[in-house]
Amino acid sequence: MKTKPGFETLAIHAGQSPDPSTGAVMTPIYQSSTYRQQGVGRHLGYEYSRTGNPTRSALEACLAELEGGSAGLAFASGMAATDAVTHLLEPGDHILASNDLYGGAFRLFEQVYARYGLRYSYAPASNKDGFLSQLRPETKLIWLETPSNPYLHLCDIAAISKSVEAEKPDIWVCVDNTFATPYLQQPLLLGADIVVHSTTKYLSGHSDVIGGAVVVKEAKVAERLAFLQNSVGAVPGPMDCFLVLRGIKTLPVRMDRHAENALEVVDFLAEQSEITRVYYPNHPSHPQQALGQAQMRNGGGMVSFTLKGGAEAARRFVEATELFALAESLGGVESLIELPAAMTHASTANTALAIDPGLVRLSVGLESASDLRADLAQAFSRTN
Ligand SMILES: Cc1ncc(COP(=O)(O)O)c(C=O)c1O
Repeated sequence: MKTKPGFETLAIHAGQSPDPSTGAVMTPIYQSSTYRQQGVGRHLGYEYSRTGNPTRSALEACLAELEGGSAGLAFASGMAATDAVTHLLEPGDHILASNDLYGGAFRLFEQVYARYGLRYSYAPASNKDGFLSQLRPETKLIWLETPSNPYLHLCDIAAISKSVEAEKPDIWVCVDNTFATPYLQQPLLLGADIVVHSTTKYLSGHSDVIGGAVVVKEAKVAERLAFLQNSVGAVPGPMDCFLVLRGIKTLPVRMDRHAENALEVVDFLAEQSEITRVYYPNHPSHPQQALGQAQMRNGGGMVSFTLKGGAEAARRFVEATELFALAESLGGVESLIELPAAMTHASTANTALAIDPGLVRLSVGLESASDLRADLAQAFSRTN
């Protein structure tokens, strides 16, 4: 092909070509831990599956192309991917993170790495200048989530990356792109250095696998991460890599429909008298809607809201839906509902990052929008 293929084409083909030995169109699941060598160190590129596996290589190459990076690395979970990026740092280094972030990342930072001499601070990244004023001489990494989990705040990846590049080029800007996926936003092309994913979510898309990934701009960083991936060993198995690869093939159509359904749900929620606030990036009520429209292809499938009745009403509501399953995680074809303060973000309790206990988070799935609205309506009527 002469011109660069479109995203939809890459989602189906990048890193994958029919198996040369059989013609199999789908990437085989190379369920082998080791590889026969012709002589010591003479092999076909694979020695041991912690170091490299052909199914994993296909996924890694696919992710690198989709994010516009020089290399991708697959991990056993999003947390393992976060852990690998953190391992790039040295004791004494400082990480500046956005103050609204996945509770598991906060737990890893505060309850694991802070014990090994890493220093963290948190500030709202939506205010670029205020955020960057928190940089210290020992800052080595900026950790961003946009849209953030669970408040769906946005930050301007290009503006932050540009300021950091101009003033402190040695600091890595890392974006957790789990909520947006590369179909909606490509942080590396906006100037970031590192992208992290929980592939458990939209990339795999069917709630049947736990996985993670890191994609980087610089080959040198990729080399260190590959060393860490092999040394630490938090790698995904070939079956899991296959499932993520398969999920990615339909990512663009799924993300478009997630966003369409989310907008219908948001419009419905905005009309409810019991609701105090709805959080959705591509909605006039979002203070950064213009940034969302510039930085993201659409608003995605995540929606949060608060209820007039506060924490008690929120707890009753999440237990009253039927189609929206009460469950952690997000990004699958099925709709989910949860209470972040008590579930995904319980680790932030009693800290400055604590989540409003009245906040409800929805992962809007691909069911008929009318059924989703009807389910929310019956939950409102049962809880009032
Ligand atoms: C934004 C975000 N990043 C990272 C993770 C961690 O991913 P995993 O559960 O695959 O370890 C999650 C999990 O919910 C998440 O929501």
